[in-house]
Amino acid sequence: MRSRRGSPVIWHALLLGIVLALAACTGAASSETAPPPAAQPAAPEAQASPTASPAAAQAAAPPATFSGQEAYRHVEHLAQRIGSRPTGTPAEQAAADYIAARLAGYGYRTEQQPFEFQDYEERSASVEVLAPAGEVIPSNALFFSPGGAVSAGVVEAGIGRPEDFPSGGLAGQLALVERGAISFRDKVANAARAGAAGIIVYNNADGPFRGSLGQLAGIPAVGIAREDGLRLLRLLSRGPAQVRLEVDAGQRTVRSRNVVARVGDRCRVLIGGHYDSVPEGPGANDNASGTAVTLELARVLAPQAREQELCFVAFGGEELGLWGSRRFVEALSPEDKSYLKAMINLDMVGVGDRWRVSGSESLRELLTQSAAGLGVSVQVLQSGQRTGGGSDHASFLQAGIAAAFIHRQEDPNYHTAEDKADFVDPQALETAGRLAVELIGQLKVPLLSPGDHH
Ligand code: BES
Ligand code: ZN
Repeated sequence: MRSRRGSPVIWHALLLGIVLALAACTGAASSETAPPPAAQPAAPEAQASPTASPAAAQAAAPPATFSGQEAYRHVEHLAQRIGSRPTGTPAEQAAADYIAARLAGYGYRTEQQPFEFQDYEERSASVEVLAPAGEVIPSNALFFSPGGAVSAGVVEAGIGRPEDFPSGGLAGQLALVERGAISFRDKVANAARAGAAGIIVYNNADGPFRGSLGQLAGIPAVGIAREDGLRLLRLLSRGPAQVRLEVDAGQRTVRSRNVVARVGDRCRVLIGGHYDSVPEGPGANDNASGTAVTLELARVLAPQAREQELCFVAFGGEELGLWGSRRFVEALSPEDKSYLKAMINLDMVGVGDRWRVSGSESLRELLTQSAAGLGVSVQVLQSGQRTGGGSDHASFLQAGIAAAFIHRQEDPNYHTAEDKADFVDPQALETAGRLAVELIGQLKVPLLSPGDHH
């Protein structure tokens, strides 16, 4: 059971922060050497193999045009046949196999890039006053608190700076500190250094809160509402208090994979989106839609993929913190990075009534022109404006690679059981595809000046 899904918006923003803070802290294996899955079913809709010479392909068949209906079939397969695709589950793997088979069917050299990471899981947290009088205080574990149970006296320690702890140390007692001024991580580290066996942080504003330690801490740490903190303080002013603090939480290793398709050795333009979903629902819009558009783009762009050095990617592990894209970027050599001129991220492109694009300035400009040419109205977010959603393009931007994010606003079923294929509009998929095709067409000429990223 994950209590972390309590308030999705705040929680995901928080998670993104954690994720970014953790970017340099883990070192699990990631490679592109994994062989493609053994038996790949033939793709019925395969055509226009990029391994044929572009001229031959063009002579043999009229250029394929992007079909929203064709893309919608992928949404049905991913969200209905397979269903919810939480990171690290067999369903996520089944989706990766499906995607790899489709891409291989279009003639691409396709591989699964495995990676692993540590995911934090909070199962429960409790604070109970044992004496002078029994009372249960509602609490949340701070994200990355270790599990553990401590029954001990409570000592007030200001805001948790080193000088706030009694000089004699805490000798296995619990520290009670106020939120604010320094990071949760520093408060916890200072408490542990002072000998505390656990720490309770009370809010510096009304109500409860959720906080994160950025990485696994040494002692159990929980947060409580300001009111409860002040009550504990009053209790302590009258005499000693005994409290039992218990956190059931810990890390688990999650294994996932990206699916990568290319024709030649290098990628000049990379098109993709994540294929995993949250556990709460089938993830039709988030993000079978972007995966489906990626697949359909791979099909129709196959004749020019070699010449244009187009690569396609479906990222795993996005919903637990952009892991797939981060690991993809980490695996790029400096040459790969400088060769890659643009990443186009498609995430949530099938529901809603407004298009929104964000990312690198150069790509935003090209997308504005593409949209105008197609008669599609798009809202363009300027640099620094929050997208209202973190997604895989961020991993590229962070590495200094130009990236564009194409998505649609607003999905009332975001991260719920109702994020179903029924609500995905094939016409929207088609528009997303046409926008991407236009943009890719504009990227044929080297328009991007070096260093022009944000
Ligand atoms: N698809 C969403 C991001 C998104 C939200 C795109 C709204 C377009 C509109 C993505 O899968 C997601 O949920 N991201 C999280 C952060 C991530 C690091 C877990 C988010 O935005 O809160
Ligand atoms: Zn998403």
